Amino acid sequence: MESVLEIQERQKNLSVVPAAVQSSLSNNFVPVSDNHKIVARDINAYFGKVQALRNVSLSIPENSVVAIIGPSGCGKSTFLRSINRMHEIIPGSRITGSLTLDRKDIYQMDAVMVRKRIGMVFQKPNPFPTMSIFDNVAAGLKMNGMRKKARLKEVVEKSLRQAALWDEVKDSLSKSGISLSGGQQQRLCIARTLAVSPEVILMDEPASALDPISTSKIEELIYELKKQYTIVIVTHNMQQAARVSDFTAFFYLGSLIEYDETKTMFTSPRLKRTEDYITGRFG
Ligand SMILES: Nc1ncnc2c1ncn2[C@@H]1O[C@H](COP(=O)(O)OP(=O)(O)O)[C@@H](O)[C@H]1O
Ligand SMILES: [Mg+2]
Repeated sequence: MESVLEIQERQKNLSVVPAAVQSSLSNNFVPVSDNHKIVARDINAYFGKVQALRNVSLSIPENSVVAIIGPSGCGKSTFLRSINRMHEIIPGSRITGSLTLDRKDIYQMDAVMVRKRIGMVFQKPNPFPTMSIFDNVAAGLKMNGMRKKARLKEVVEKSLRQAALWDEVKDSLSKSGISLSGGQQQRLCIARTLAVSPEVILMDEPASALDPISTSKIEELIYELKKQYTIVIVTHNMQQAARVSDFTAFFYLGSLIEYDETKTMFTSPRLKRTEDYITGRFG
């Protein structure tokens, strides 16, 4: 088996190897490509003196689902937050490296615009507690200045349908968002994210607080959503990563250890450490 450094070196080189040469290699996967929707290069992220990410380079192909796996504290959430500029909100935080969305520097854009284009769903469903189901979904639209009632209704319905929640709530839109079950609340939060028409959705363990039936609803939803959106999901659940993602990135102690097509990662990872993690030998 190759060492981590050998793999990182080979993967770095891969992204500059001409296509014809690449296709002669065992697997066509390109871990860092300028053609991808989001490209992270040499990301280092810190909380004060704590370094949470170390030279992470990987890119996210459009209309795909990328799963991020790895033991607690390895930097998965920090990586997500660096993508939509939520890392910088934390006092004492710092980040270096480059991150682009459609080849444009994310850190040169307006941060509010970045978070509109790159939405986020958190582990614990967090509907606005004082708002109705309708207003939870409409909140972002209203903040962006949409006032027309008919248009708001239209977008709220469309978003709830996309989040596979409409049939369950269409007769109770004025009920409080927090009157819903946990699984419904999470789909409500997904609808709220979809309402402002993001291009990318970051999900940080979106199903880990949910029961199995709600979890499978979220997984089906992810499958539907990737036709239209680009999705990055952090998960502790290996079966879930295998089921929902096209590509899987394994992080360990702040470094990206291995990144490949999900089927390769789960059937023939290049590194023993990846295999050990995936098979539950540590974590
Ligand atoms: N707000 C914070 N302040 C200080 N350190 C943090 C903060 N959030 C995360 N960390 C540290 O950064 C590292 C990565 O954390 P995180 O990205 O949350 O990991 P994961 O999501 O993989 O569990 C850990 O060592 C964690 O303790
Ligand atoms: Mg986390």
